[in-house]
Amino acid sequence: MPTLKDTSLIEIPKVHDERGSLAVIEKDVIPFNIKRVYYLYDVPSDSYRGGHAHLEQQSVIIALSGSFEVIVDDGESQKRVMLNKPTQGLFVPTNIWREIDNFSSGAVCLVLASTEYNENEYIRAYEDFKNQSSR
Ligand code: TYD
Repeated sequence: MPTLKDTSLIEIPKVHDERGSLAVIEKDVIPFNIKRVYYLYDVPSDSYRGGHAHLEQQSVIIALSGSFEVIVDDGESQKRVMLNKPTQGLFVPTNIWREIDNFSSGAVCLVLASTEYNENEYIRAYEDFKNQSSR
């Protein structure tokens, strides 16, 4: 089973000049083939998202705008990662529980996903996740 050590921060290359900044996500920056992109926006500051793990989906989570915190949990321990740069992505492998909270006003959370949406590969109950990860 993956552990917190298998999560990682990915640096997204950028080009900056006096006109502004441009960040590029090319194939070799992401450790999987991207099948889907989705984003969270208009998230109230007291709201939290996630609260699940995936049997198949790997993700890279990016704060395109603003900031939020991602709690990753391997069933043994947890860590909180603040994302606040559009050039930084948090890689979350399969079988890691994740929650996202502390959204700043105007935050946009981009998720690059390795799979198409399939509710059957979600683990949405923490108890099920704990049982799964202790096997
Ligand atoms: P949910 O998994 O609760 O979002 P989050 O993990 O970000 O808190 O998804 C919210 C709703 O959107 C839920 O009904 C499933 C649906 N959904 C899709 O239809 N397609 C998708 O790609 C995703 C990620 C969610």
